Amino acid sequence: MANIAHLSDVHFGHHDPVVVDAVEAFLFEKRPDLVVISGDFTQRARVKQYEMACAFIDRIEDQGLKVLAVPGNHDVPLFDVVRRFVRPLDRYKRFIDDDLCPYFENDELAVLGLNTARSLTIKDGSISHEQMQLIRETFHTGLEGKTRILVTHHPLFAMPIGDQGELSKVVNRHDDALQAAADAGVHILLAGHFHRSFSKSAREMVKNSGAALVVQAGTATSTRLRGDEPQSFNWIEAHRGKVDIEVHAWEGVNFAPGKPASYNYDGENWHFAGTPAPVAP
Ligand SMILES: [Fe+2]
Ligand SMILES: [Fe+2]
Repeated sequence: MANIAHLSDVHFGHHDPVVVDAVEAFLFEKRPDLVVISGDFTQRARVKQYEMACAFIDRIEDQGLKVLAVPGNHDVPLFDVVRRFVRPLDRYKRFIDDDLCPYFENDELAVLGLNTARSLTIKDGSISHEQMQLIRETFHTGLEGKTRILVTHHPLFAMPIGDQGELSKVVNRHDDALQAAADAGVHILLAGHFHRSFSKSAREMVKNSGAALVVQAGTATSTRLRGDEPQSFNWIEAHRGKVDIEVHAWEGVNFAPGKPASYNYDGENWHFAGTPAPVAP
């Protein structure tokens, strides 16, 4: 079994420092095998904001924890037009990670991150044919028994973003990207962007998806919230053929775990299995 803390949309520059401290305290105590941060490190890609995000990652890594990060649309400068189009992710590479396709593997997990943030769109994302090829190559062979996870900032297909049935826009080339994930046997798709947390089998939401389980994270530390959903992050326990997901939501003074959701994988599909039974003390 492997543990992943899935954070997203930390938005330094528009963050709550008390919540940041609480996230760090949680990570230092629980010590996940991997901390995934799925983009939007900053509010406006300013140097000061990147410095705070960098210090946050440094503090986590100083505790001996591994971090896998991808950029979000807010990590590309919006108003600095020259930088936006000429060197859109320069600061991200300098302060966060110069690898825009990070990969992590251990005995249980194979995790690939891809950059979906682009200069030509303000909020929306895109995946290139080279990145699709990378998905296929990375998850090609030799990973039997490992949970294959793809991390992006923008989810690969339209997501419900409100309670009224409203759907998000899709990433550019989403059909091909989904096909690549399906071909590569990706088990879990981790993303953020909408500041809303939920999990669901992809097949229940979109045709031709492959068998991935979609896991969306809310914003971990931003003060810009969607509706009445507070800051949150996902605690994921990945077993072989089973995954338990616990959303930890901010309750004003600390993070509290919600009811965990459990999914079983039968080799072709994920099936919601309710809340796992508590472990006997
Ligand atoms: Fe965001
Ligand atoms: Fe975003």
